[in-house]
Amino acid sequence: MGYSSICLFIFFALFLGHVFVKLEASQHVYRTLQTCQSFSSSITSQPYRTGYHFQPPSSWMNGKSFFISVLSRFEFLIFTSLLVSLTFVWSHVLITAWTNGCVCICRSQRCWSGSVTILPGGNPAVLYTGIDAGNKQVQNLAVPKNLSDPYLKEWIKPPENPLMVPADQIDPGSFRDPTTAWIGPDKIWRVIIGSKINDTGLAILYRSKDFVNWTKAEQSLYSTNQSGMWECPDFFPVSTKSPKGVDTSVIGPNIKHVLKVSLSNYQQDYYTIGTYNITTDTHIAEEGSFDDNSGLRYDYGKFYASKTFFDSAKNRRILWGWINESSTRSDNLKKGWAGLQATPRNLWLDKSGRQLMQWPISEIEKLRGNQVKWPAKLLERGSMVGITGITAAQMLRSHFRQLLLRKRKCWTQFGPTRNFSVAKRGASVKGALGPFGLLVLASNGLQEYTAVFFRIFKGQDRHIVLMCSDQSRSSINDDNDKTSYGAFLDLDPVHEKLSIRSLIDRSIVESFGGGGKACITARIYPTLAIHDKAHLYAFNNGTEKVNITSLRAWSMKKAQIN
Ligand SMILES: *[C@@H]1O[C@H](CO)[C@@H](O)[C@H](O)[C@H]1NC(C)=O
Ligand SMILES: *[C@@H]1O[C@H](CO)[C@@H](O)[C@H](O)[C@H]1NC(C)=O
Ligand SMILES: *[C@@H]1O[C@H](CO)[C@@H](O)[C@H](O)[C@H]1NC(C)=O
Ligand SMILES: *[C@@H]1O[C@H](CO)[C@@H](O)[C@H](O)[C@H]1NC(C)=O
Ligand SMILES: *[C@@H]1O[C@H](CO)[C@@H](O)[C@H](O)[C@H]1NC(C)=O
Ligand SMILES: *[C@@H]1O[C@H](CO)[C@@H](O)[C@H](O)[C@H]1NC(C)=O
Ligand SMILES: *[C@@H]1O[C@H](CO)[C@@H](O)[C@H](O)[C@H]1NC(C)=O
Ligand SMILES: *[C@@H]1O[C@H](CO)[C@@H](O)[C@H](O)[C@H]1NC(C)=O
Ligand SMILES: *[C@@H]1O[C@H](CO)[C@@H](O)[C@H](O)[C@H]1NC(C)=O
Repeated sequence: MGYSSICLFIFFALFLGHVFVKLEASQHVYRTLQTCQSFSSSITSQPYRTGYHFQPPSSWMNGKSFFISVLSRFEFLIFTSLLVSLTFVWSHVLITAWTNGCVCICRSQRCWSGSVTILPGGNPAVLYTGIDAGNKQVQNLAVPKNLSDPYLKEWIKPPENPLMVPADQIDPGSFRDPTTAWIGPDKIWRVIIGSKINDTGLAILYRSKDFVNWTKAEQSLYSTNQSGMWECPDFFPVSTKSPKGVDTSVIGPNIKHVLKVSLSNYQQDYYTIGTYNITTDTHIAEEGSFDDNSGLRYDYGKFYASKTFFDSAKNRRILWGWINESSTRSDNLKKGWAGLQATPRNLWLDKSGRQLMQWPISEIEKLRGNQVKWPAKLLERGSMVGITGITAAQMLRSHFRQLLLRKRKCWTQFGPTRNFSVAKRGASVKGALGPFGLLVLASNGLQEYTAVFFRIFKGQDRHIVLMCSDQSRSSINDDNDKTSYGAFLDLDPVHEKLSIRSLIDRSIVESFGGGGKACITARIYPTLAIHDKAHLYAFNNGTEKVNITSLRAWSMKKAQIN
């Protein structure tokens, strides 16, 4: 396998349906993009360059704020070029986007994130944030110039632009990221824009009959005091009866609504599940909170500015998220790139109704190569076993089952709050049940490894399962951000199997616990555990035995672009 090929990767050639778009544009960015084909092999042969995650070929932006924000937007821009061209020739579009440059929406003005809405008749329209001559954030419309062009290469901005400008007390620098619009039975379109007034985060609602003339509603769809600026809001229905996705405009019985916002203060994505009342045009949250950073999250690691879209071809809702680097700015400059996209994930409401579930879209399985299958294995206390035959890009799924779960007396006591201090203590702190799990991207002498593991605590009346991703030993380079992440798993370990699925791709580890109940994404930069020197282990450092009932791992092929 190896990583000598310089192709960037895409894995969902059969992906169809509605899409979102995020964009940033300037001549400079586009020029960079158009050098796609000729980026140097010194970049693609880097150990941290991913094999099957989506990332831009390179970016050479200078200037601190520009560098950070534009790289993320740049990432989105590439998505734009791929996703704007949505429709029915997806795989061709992907190829075109990479070999022929990009679909340009903004040639002459700066623009930020936006979303695609599919209008009746199937034609896409993009609402996006532009920056006007006075440096104000405003919302604009773009529609394809030639609907017969399968790549939708050219877009028109109607003379009515801008369609929405910061009104009342809205700060002109805090008014951005329109969602996909939805239409009610009253034939009125709605869209929300992320904003804030003072420190109150807002999802400002606009309505329109014709998609061009938009009027601001008196009341926001939702707002929360002291939550700061809301970026990239997302508002969509989920079925309470089925894991299938539904179109953004669906309301009615067996539907709940999800409002997600990207809290600028924390650089993290939070969501609430609730009820949307289309009469009052408000969201009434049942679960989750934006008040502080204790609410429900898509991902408890690095994951920001995500958006979903409804894929009508496969009736699923798909989540995309942006993943920042954890390396220093100077290291990023040396690498020549920064930022990538998480594996696209299916998103649906858990049977409990209390949280969302996520799972990598099945298309990724096409990239599976060499498989390693392990017989069931008992992990004694303090044991560690190597799993061989896997390359640095790995994907694996394992089920652990503890033995003797009920016999334990000496549980670590655990309060009812979401207290992650235990996670921060890392894998080396021992308990009865756990830590047990995996060491991924581990070097020969274990100078470097990333531990993805469980710990189980006794709560008041139930067991509490904590899943962690501990980066503290991930690299001997101490300049990186090595924060360890933790997430609680809403499952009963006495009656349910525990599982982890990790998508490991050189500098990223995306882990899904409990079949998608909690996700943690980490960025890591090993210096020893690279290429064929990256190993995989299962370990159990708890005092109780743990049975691995099944473990499968696949080497992942690099995605190809023809
Ligand atoms: C629109 O696109 C189609 C397909 O590429 C092309 O044949 C046609 O000439 C285009 N029309 C215009 C007005 O450019
Ligand atoms: C925002 O803060 C300013 C200054 O403290 C205050 O005058 C204004 O009333 C506040 N606006 C709102 C909507 O609370
Ligand atoms: C835009 O819509 C509002 C509300 O429906 C209406 O009052 C106004 O006349 C419309 N403006 C134009 C230019 O059509
Ligand atoms: C939010 O802030 C506003 C204005 O300061 C205040 O009137 C309102 O009571 C606050 N709401 C909550 C839930 O604290
Ligand atoms: C929506 O709000 C209106 C006005 O407050 C209320 O009459 C109606 O019952 C609400 N609908 C639902 C489904 O809760
Ligand atoms: C990206 O991550 C770095 C390192 O953890 C952090 O310093 C920076 O603020 C992050 N940037 C964004 C836009 O989240
Ligand atoms: C979290 O737990 C730690 C150790 O158990 C404790 O010291 C700390 O006060 C707790 N923090 C919160 C916010 O409850
Ligand atoms: C497991 O415990 C051993 C002995 O205390 C320690 O050396 C090792 O680092 C622990 N493993 C992990 C993954 O923390
Ligand atoms: C471990 O799990 C395997 C597979 O389910 C099972 O066959 C085996 O008996 C288990 N071992 C123990 C000691 O429970």
